[in-house]
Amino acid sequence: MTERREELEETAKAMVARGQGILAADESTGTMTKRLEGVGVDSNEETRRTFRELLVTTPDAGDKISGVILYDETIKQKTADGRPFPEMLSEVGILPGIKVDTGAKPLAGSDGEKVTEGLDGLRERFEEYRDLGAKFAKWRAVIDMGDGKPTDYAIHVNAHALARYAALAQEAGIVPIVEPEVMMEGSHAIDVAEEVSRRTVTAVFRELELQRIHLPGMVLKPNMVMAGYDNPDQPSVEEVAERTLNLFREVVPEEVPGIAFLSGGQSDEQAAAHLSAMNNIGGVPWELTFSYGRALIGAPLKVWSGEADNVKKAQEAFAHRARCNAAARQGEYSEDMEKELVA
Ligand code: 13P
Repeated sequence: MTERREELEETAKAMVARGQGILAADESTGTMTKRLEGVGVDSNEETRRTFRELLVTTPDAGDKISGVILYDETIKQKTADGRPFPEMLSEVGILPGIKVDTGAKPLAGSDGEKVTEGLDGLRERFEEYRDLGAKFAKWRAVIDMGDGKPTDYAIHVNAHALARYAALAQEAGIVPIVEPEVMMEGSHAIDVAEEVSRRTVTAVFRELELQRIHLPGMVLKPNMVMAGYDNPDQPSVEEVAERTLNLFREVVPEEVPGIAFLSGGQSDEQAAAHLSAMNNIGGVPWELTFSYGRALIGAPLKVWSGEADNVKKAQEAFAHRARCNAAARQGEYSEDMEKELVA
């Protein structure tokens, strides 16, 4: 038991190590298809594999990336030179992770809210993923806002499922990333986002504690506190940073080693600027880092556009985003860094 706890703590610390962050490359096939088709690329096993290989084989990726969250399809795939993805990642010092939820589904008896599924057979799946080399995992709950949403019902069932997942992950020696995502779409004010995030994260930690989660062996992956994207009254970078940190000071226990934010549809520059501002404020007990999907892969995906000739340039674009966010993770990002990539 003690040994397992120590192993969990070590992995969690490595995931949120200074100067590095996590790449979320775990889009479901449906989401990845949308992303690929968005740049005119057909989505099939091979194109999904090729793009993800491009990302993880970027030279020196391990300097800025501590871990990569894989999807079930990818963790079982091999790079072009025949190495399973988890093995290839471990060789360059990157921790392999795995998304284990099976998506947000309509919540029975609710008015359009969702609950994340995937608990059935999860203990056995964790054993399989551990054998494939996974060191950490991710489960994402989706909390929608507006028109009386979210209800306490939706928050409660999602928090409960997150904790059940986290308990099974830790039992298997795998660090759970606990991701309650309050969606940033809509026209709500920042006050509303703050209140909904407070209700959500408070409920999540209540469940995590009830279900005996070892807090030093987990990572929290939340949204930042922002106004809805359609709200014309957008807060400054500093306000987002301050309100996000103030809220988490209230509701996140000190034992949690790190908070790894999701980007949630922010622009690449915004995602880096907000993270940098938070690290500049500092004075918090946890590491503040990133676990970005879109804010890391959007640029390289566009550059690549399915062309083998573009692989090198796409890797440069990925390395650049990784550098910007790794700097942000230390409070050292500035817009000038954006000029460093010569396209
Ligand atoms: P985004 O950074 O694109 O929000 O993705 C992170 C993630 O893993 C969402 O589950």
